[in-house]
Amino acid sequence: MERTFVMVKPDGVQRGLVGQIVSRLEEKGLKLVAARFESLPEARVNDQYREHLEKPFFPSLKKYIMGGPVFLMVWEGRNAVAIVRKLIGVTNPQEAAPGTIRGDYGIDIGRNVIHASDSGESAAREIAIHFKPADISSYTRIDSAVIYEY
Ligand code: RTP
Ligand code: MG
Repeated sequence: MERTFVMVKPDGVQRGLVGQIVSRLEEKGLKLVAARFESLPEARVNDQYREHLEKPFFPSLKKYIMGGPVFLMVWEGRNAVAIVRKLIGVTNPQEAAPGTIRGDYGIDIGRNVIHASDSGESAAREIAIHFKPADISSYTRIDSAVIYEY
């Protein structure tokens, strides 16, 4: 099983999409193992998006992410990182396929509703930025026996 970090961005929270997004991931069969609702401090935004610190869009990205509360989550499942990236769609919502979260809910690249880790390494790093090991629950979803083949 693999873990991934997912965050509903401030525009997604303001637009009342938290429930829809959680539902999509739950219905896929992924398991929610941690969640928290909060406004991110600057240091954690810099850490989260450290590969973009020098990019021209970083100041507006930071302002956007710090513009309101976000919903932080850790999801677990077989190939969870790749599955969630597929479910959220490509970065630019105008190019994201219908049926994906960004494809269904967004228009501008700088208002793309949701973040998800892009690799196993990013997931481990991002989970550690936002959650302590004790924040992450260990349990078995009762339906896992019919979601997985073995
Ligand atoms: P995220 O990290 O938020 O899940 O998004 P991503 O992997 O799909 O895209 P990434 O390249 O990591 O970019 C991070 C966020 O920065 C904003 N962005 N703006 N104006 C631009 O050219 C531009 N490029 C990226 C987006 O909000 C993107 O989600
Ligand atoms: Mg990214």
